[in-house]
Amino acid sequence: MELTTILAAAATLLGGLYLFYSYRFTYWKRRGVPFPKPLPLVGNFGFVLTGRKVFTTALKEMALPFKEKGYCGVYQWTKPLLLVWDPEMIKQIMCKDFSSFHDRGLPADKHDPLSQHLFNMGGNKWRNLRNKLSPTFTSGKLKLMFPLMRDIGVELSAQIAEETKKAETHELKINTLLSRYATDVIGSVAFGIQCNALRDQENEFFIMSRSIFRPSPAQFVRFFLETIHPKLGGLLPFWLILSNVHRFFINLMKDTVEYREKNNVERNDFVQLMMQLRKADLASIDPENHVELNPGVMAAQGFIFFIAGLDNISNTVAFALSKLAANPELQDKVANEVRDVLRQHDGELTYDALKKMDLVNRTALEALRIWNPVGLMLRKCNATTRVGDLTIEKGQVVFIMAQIAAMDEKNFPDPTRFDPDRHLPEVKETRHPYTFLPFGEGPRICIAERFALLEMKLALAMLLRDFVFSNGPGHKGEVELDPKALFPMPKDGFVLQVTARA
Ligand code: HEM
Repeated sequence: MELTTILAAAATLLGGLYLFYSYRFTYWKRRGVPFPKPLPLVGNFGFVLTGRKVFTTALKEMALPFKEKGYCGVYQWTKPLLLVWDPEMIKQIMCKDFSSFHDRGLPADKHDPLSQHLFNMGGNKWRNLRNKLSPTFTSGKLKLMFPLMRDIGVELSAQIAEETKKAETHELKINTLLSRYATDVIGSVAFGIQCNALRDQENEFFIMSRSIFRPSPAQFVRFFLETIHPKLGGLLPFWLILSNVHRFFINLMKDTVEYREKNNVERNDFVQLMMQLRKADLASIDPENHVELNPGVMAAQGFIFFIAGLDNISNTVAFALSKLAANPELQDKVANEVRDVLRQHDGELTYDALKKMDLVNRTALEALRIWNPVGLMLRKCNATTRVGDLTIEKGQVVFIMAQIAAMDEKNFPDPTRFDPDRHLPEVKETRHPYTFLPFGEGPRICIAERFALLEMKLALAMLLRDFVFSNGPGHKGEVELDPKALFPMPKDGFVLQVTARA
């Protein structure tokens, strides 16, 4: 082939690509939706390749120039993605028009058993599973589970006392200890095992749980392909996806179920509740959308409980403690509430005592508002719908950026100031309810909201009863976020000085 023919073919190909991408990148303009300028090929997602920005921070920065509009479009590579933060539009997407936005558009792939969990599932299968699992999170069930959690809270306090004594300046990376606490809690209630991550950092369960957040290269490729098209990830052979972490969690659930069945073991935890549901399942009346609770599907639920219940909890509690360390007066106030309520309960940190600790509750909520562990929520439009002044087309993925409203001066004056009183009923009344959604809203709201708050409050109450937290010589000011993490993670941890409370 002559050189001129090759050059002509290359020029035609490049020209074609140029026209294709130029047209793709007019999607938002044609719809009158404001958008930041995209770059060829990468759209607005070039920051993912440089790895210099936290995912949620980068999206927030793209949205802020259009703050008053309440929404904007971006290009995830070449795919149009809608970001929404207007509270009324959020309400419509999450609640009023839920039937048009019931899924997240994430893959629940039958070749990857651990992907078949509530967070990923869609449509009627999701509804079927959600209806089955919801009763496991009632206050009655949580009350029964509470003693298992409290035992781990006691261990946390003992471990902190021990490690503080060893540390020269009595400083500790408090988020690491809280992460070990959260591992033990989820291991106990979701997998029914005592993992002892608090005592033993070499513990297999703890190591495996940390690996969840470090995907293998094959999983990374799969994730990347799925962001382009959900079906592309499924093209990879499934043995590439089943990492040792996957096998570990599936076998763990299988062994636990078998052991309990064989030995008639009963324990107040999620495993027990799912085993009971499995029996009731046999009489399912909706065979088409029926989700069999076999050990693989049970392991998938335990797995998502794990992913959702580790860093979300540990970092938010650590953040709350860091804010209390910076404000000793507020810390004393919260600690006094803990002491006063405990006095009314004969010194026992019970479920009922914890329920009465209103300031502890508001402290956890305020930490959720500013730290905002989840960052954004996902919905995929399944029927073209008018939302506010915008038509959202079928197939459009929407990122709900509730954090923008939660850090908006209009809704929360002086938004970076840590102030639990913002969550007093009379103050709450003055703002739109959809400006603060740490657990989401509507039918797909976090199924474990009450459980998560209980776990956070238990840690806060236990630690403020026993210790005083302050900023020691290792304090470096506001904590820096790890740019490589998908969700907010402290780059160097929350280092606090800990002394026993008199
Ligand atoms: C501080 C802790 C937590 C926060 C801030 C949090 C927040 C959230 C958010 C924002 C969502 C998405 C809601 C939506 O799209 O509307 C969600 C969903 C979910 N969370 Fe949590 N979560 C936490 C802890 C937990 C824990 C401990 C568990 C399990 C034990 C859990 C299990 C789930 C599940 C299964 C879903 C999917 C629900 C569905 O689609 O039906 N979360 N969570």
